[in-house]
Amino acid sequence: PTITFISPDGTKHQLEAKAGASAMETAVKFGVPGIIGECGGGLSCATCHVFVEPGDIDRTGTAEDFEEEMLEDALTPATECSRLSCQIRMTDELDGLVLTIAPEQ
Ligand code: FES
Repeated sequence: PTITFISPDGTKHQLEAKAGASAMETAVKFGVPGIIGECGGGLSCATCHVFVEPGDIDRTGTAEDFEEEMLEDALTPATECSRLSCQIRMTDELDGLVLTIAPEQ
C-alpha cells in the first residue's frame, strides 16, 4: 500500500509500505524526518504523532482509550484526527493514506 507523509515544512514523502508494517515503522525505515518512534512501537512514547485526513478516519479508525491517553501527553496538542502512527497497521485497504506529521514530537 502507498502511504504519504507530509512533514511539518510541507514536504510530501510518498512511500510504498509493506503490508503488516505500521505507519511509524514505514516512516522510520525510509528516514522520513519528524517521526521519531522512540519506544519502537510500544505505545509508550507518543513521538510518532500524526494527523489523519478527516476523510480517512473511517479507514484508520480513531485512537483507542490507551492511545488517546498517550496523545494527551503529546507535545503537539492532539485533535480528533490524531493517531500514534505505530498503531496504524498498513493494509491494502489503507492504500493512498495521507498522514500529516505533528510538528513537535
Ligand atoms: Fe512510541 Fe508510537 S512509537 S508510541
